[in-house]
Amino acid sequence: MSARERLRIAVQKNGRLAEPSLALLAQCGFRFRQSRDKLFCFGEAAPVDLLLVRDDDIPGLVAEGVCELGIVGRNVLAEHTAGGEARVDEIRALGFGVCRLALAVPAEQPYGGVADLAGRRIATSYPQLLERFLAAAGIAATTVVLNGSVEIAPRLGTADLVCDLVSSGATLAANHLREVEVVLQSEAVLVGSAPRADVPRGELETMLLRRLDAALAVKESKLVLLSARREAWPAIRSLLPGNARASIMTLDGSSDEIAVQALCTGAVTWQHLEEMQRAGAQGLLVVPVEKMLA
Ligand code: PRP
Ligand code: ZN
Repeated sequence: MSARERLRIAVQKNGRLAEPSLALLAQCGFRFRQSRDKLFCFGEAAPVDLLLVRDDDIPGLVAEGVCELGIVGRNVLAEHTAGGEARVDEIRALGFGVCRLALAVPAEQPYGGVADLAGRRIATSYPQLLERFLAAAGIAATTVVLNGSVEIAPRLGTADLVCDLVSSGATLAANHLREVEVVLQSEAVLVGSAPRADVPRGELETMLLRRLDAALAVKESKLVLLSARREAWPAIRSLLPGNARASIMTLDGSSDEIAVQALCTGAVTWQHLEEMQRAGAQGLLVVPVEKMLA
């Protein structure tokens, strides 16, 4: 690792991960002044700077040590790694940019399983991942590498099917394609060069990871407030989602009524609330948590 004193993070310049990546870093207390060419962003709150680049360049920049960390789709990282290039590690899954790399065939075409792929031409921007998938299935097919507009290849006759990213499924539907196999589940991930025993992780990086973990935990956390009769509490407690930690207060002037404040991890759905209400909870309130330091 370089002796640079400022930490550098590679982030997607344009595209789906760009805005949520910056939002997550902002939640961790990192703010940036954007330079005019918008390639380099100077960190104002801490010695942590950004490099705004094409997502496909991020694993390489981290592997070469130009940046210590990067935020990129697991699909891009996996394609880089499957290609046998310098190792870059996934450090954390970040929970946004969820999508999958999938095989899709023309909607009206029958599909009976991977054996049907033999001898077909498959258009993709992810040749390494596709070839690894085919090899694992023992299928010989032809990979047609395209760097964009993969979904129109079957209509143009340049391929029989596609191996492309699917998020909402709107692109497949618009192109009359039907998803048949998932090659890789993906989401945005924090990447770093593989840790080596002789390279200490910098203090800045440790701080960033600590804040990131807190920010990720907060995203999943809700404070649930309610009141109930004391005897209803065991039933209500068993309905609280996640590993809820609850504090119980006795209501002033009443010995059998309690007020509860519980920190829940995971989603608190309407169904959870309705079940708790049936069990005797009143005045249910679900409050988002902004910051948390255990
Ligand atoms: C991806 C992918 C599909 C689309 C799928 O492209 O290549 O075209 O998203 O999303 P959907 O299922 O929600 O329609 P993206 O817009 O990320 O741009 P890219 O060409 O840079 O990959
Ligand atoms: Zn891309």
